[in-house]
Amino acid sequence: MELISKGNRIWTGAREAVDSKMGNVAFVRTRIDFIEACFAKDEVSEIWITFPDPQPQKTRERKRLTNMMFINRYRNVLKKGGAVNLKTDNEPFYDFSREVIKENNLQELDATNDLYANVGLRDEALTTIKTHYEKLFSDKGFKICYLKYII
Ligand SMILES: C[S@@+](CC[C@H](N)C(=O)[O-])C[C@H]1O[C@@H](n2cnc3c(N)ncnc32)[C@H](O)[C@@H]1O
Repeated sequence: MELISKGNRIWTGAREAVDSKMGNVAFVRTRIDFIEACFAKDEVSEIWITFPDPQPQKTRERKRLTNMMFINRYRNVLKKGGAVNLKTDNEPFYDFSREVIKENNLQELDATNDLYANVGLRDEALTTIKTHYEKLFSDKGFKICYLKYII
């Protein structure tokens, strides 16, 4: 059973940032709805959405972090040409995100429903840097989906 809380994970990351003397790291614990209050226009170079709740029920589509309502918020803080990256173990959520890209004529740069099937084709960091949940899911042998696009 997973007992490490979100606060603990943030503490671990913060400790590592301090110990490694990283000057460009910050942790913000908030709802995504407030992203525009956290960053100025054009302040963000790239966005990584890693293993968010896929909100599988149709009635919860508006809660999915890749729906157009959130993309429009990301647009307000992301530099022009900055990419959104998504990693998820949930293929229906990955498919939903690709549909949003297609329906809204966004520019898809990369898409795979099995990132680890072709290690070597992409930047090494994509498969060597793993978040807490990526470790959990990939250790269990789940396929990891990856998507990169310009909004
Ligand atoms: C399965 S965890 C993944 C945690 C981490 N990103 C990782 O890859 O290890 C899903 C996270 O998404 C966060 N989340 C889901 N919906 C959110 C929202 N609307 N605003 C902010 N965070 C949200 C949850 O609180 C949770 O921490």
